Amino acid sequence: MLIIQAPAKINLTLEVLGRRADGYHNLSSIFHTLNLADEARLTPADEMRLSVEDQVEGCETPVDERNTVWKAVALFQQATGWEQPFHIHLTKRIPSEAGLGGGSSDAASVLKGLCQLAQQAGVPSPSLMELAAQIGSDVPFFLLGGCARVAGRGETVLPLPPLPPFYWVLAKPKGVGVSTAEAYRHLQRPLADTMEEDPLFAAAGPHTGRLSQSLDRRRIETPENLMGYLCNDFEGDALPEWELLIPIQKRLKSLGALKTLLCGSGSTQAALCRDRFHALDIERDMRSRELDIWVVQLRSR
Ligand code: C5P
Repeated sequence: MLIIQAPAKINLTLEVLGRRADGYHNLSSIFHTLNLADEARLTPADEMRLSVEDQVEGCETPVDERNTVWKAVALFQQATGWEQPFHIHLTKRIPSEAGLGGGSSDAASVLKGLCQLAQQAGVPSPSLMELAAQIGSDVPFFLLGGCARVAGRGETVLPLPPLPPFYWVLAKPKGVGVSTAEAYRHLQRPLADTMEEDPLFAAAGPHTGRLSQSLDRRRIETPENLMGYLCNDFEGDALPEWELLIPIQKRLKSLGALKTLLCGSGSTQAALCRDRFHALDIERDMRSRELDIWVVQLRSR
């Protein structure tokens, strides 16, 4: 049996540059993994089976072809011809439709796990990056994890030095999820003139460029150093669920969050905290029947 962690992510910057001819959008973003993680257990079996233990109240993760893990297995088998079936058991701690990348991370961790097991069986490994991009735009990032600048539709991943394990509080309204496709549609970005698939030409948005330089020069040593860089283009009226999120944002700010930040296209919001005690104070004050709350830290790998 192989056990593999699948961490959630936060977008420290998320700039949506333009709509592409293929219907996706070019983005410029800095992703960082968190210590909130799902877990995948892979056990050789007679036939492929997926089971899920949902630890987030109200989340019902599908166990059929709609699950990104199925896509990962099918693509891996196609690419290698290795047909060993597995029982995959997922322990889900990351909520879905929350902007935290749970489904994408699960798929990436299963690809990595299958690759490791295939190598042990003498099967040559395929290019996981290509398979990952076929599953979803955020999946290539999770093959690396840590901190990275992400460009194109998500397939270009340029590693950056990770940040220290700063504390955040995540707050998500129970039962409110955001469809990523819908959120992008509402942004109504103009048609871009390039698909920006080559990392050399993948222009960074202004905020992402600035943060990526400071990370490279290791200039961010405290949460206070980081707060001025955080941004997300999905924040605001363009997001259909924004009205519902405003009171949560206001509350986090009134409790002294250094900065609030929407995670991906929502519906989770993250509050950057001074330290662990500050995070635990905010968590205690935010606790309510309407919200799911987590205290998390940035995690390097
Ligand atoms: O790639 P993924 O399946 O995660 O994307 C879900 C949807 O989000 C896409 O169908 C697309 O509408 C939108 N999207 C986008 N540009 C991206 C990533 C996602 O328009 N870079």
